[in-house]
Amino acid sequence: MNRKVTKAIFPVAGLGTRFLPATKSIPKEIMTLVDRPLIQYAIDEARAAGIKEFIFVTSRGKGALEDYFDHAHELENTLRKAGKDDLLELLRQTNMESGAIAYIRQHKAMGLGHAVWCARRLIHDEPFAVVLTDDVVMGEPPCLQQMIEAHAETGGSMVATMEVPLEKTKSYGVLDVAEDMGAIVRAKGMVEKPKENPPSNLAVIGRYILAPTVMENLNKLKQGAGGEIQLTDAIADEIEEGRDVYGLRFRGQRYDCGSKAGFLQATVAFGLARDELKDEFAEYLHDVMAMRKAAE
Ligand code: G1P
Repeated sequence: MNRKVTKAIFPVAGLGTRFLPATKSIPKEIMTLVDRPLIQYAIDEARAAGIKEFIFVTSRGKGALEDYFDHAHELENTLRKAGKDDLLELLRQTNMESGAIAYIRQHKAMGLGHAVWCARRLIHDEPFAVVLTDDVVMGEPPCLQQMIEAHAETGGSMVATMEVPLEKTKSYGVLDVAEDMGAIVRAKGMVEKPKENPPSNLAVIGRYILAPTVMENLNKLKQGAGGEIQLTDAIADEIEEGRDVYGLRFRGQRYDCGSKAGFLQATVAFGLARDELKDEFAEYLHDVMAMRKAAE
């Protein structure tokens, strides 16, 4: 029986320079798709997957992110007095239990692997999840839950993966496939952002379930692609050392909310998924496209 995954690390220390000037004063994780900040999507997905402890790796200037998880007592009282039960319920759903959240500071931007390593003292001998909030995944069941279910069968470490055009592989961690079992592949290697000769077109997206030995590999603090300490390298070391690493072809759509184009696509997709918005919004999009066509 594989151990249950109850802890998740959320590396949220990044500066978000691609979204300047907005990120001058707000953390990018607070940017909203429709009406929910990116971090809320990540938390909801983790909770649905049974995560109980949420570890945020933050940095200077992320105060608004920490405040976001405080209970808004004054606001709740006002809503209660005004009889706005629906809004109260909405806030209640986002409240986190005291003690369920931990914040660790990454003092220097040294890469994703380094950010995860900063949380090492909170991870013991259990497998843990890593969720990158830039990657928003629309899927049912949610992506992390699909992974936890698959991981309960396979054990080892697991990354979420999707097929991308070969020329796009240089933006991702890429799997070298040993065995393709359909939804699940077993990896014989993993390369971070290969400049040439990608081992496959299976890209890693920001959802991981990792064996505790990955933290030991991160202890080596080895510099990888871009001079950074890469999570991908620490996972590849698992394979070198004879432990299993799997990729799960998750069911769902991933949006790269770390890029402007991806963020806009996600806004459209999540807008169209809302019952209260979808008709009006779809009609608007339709009209915009028709006007574009007519102008051509
Ligand atoms: C990170 C990982 C990369 C992964 C990607 C998914 O890269 O290092 O392996 O494929 O997330 O979004 P980043 O996009 O942060 O450069």
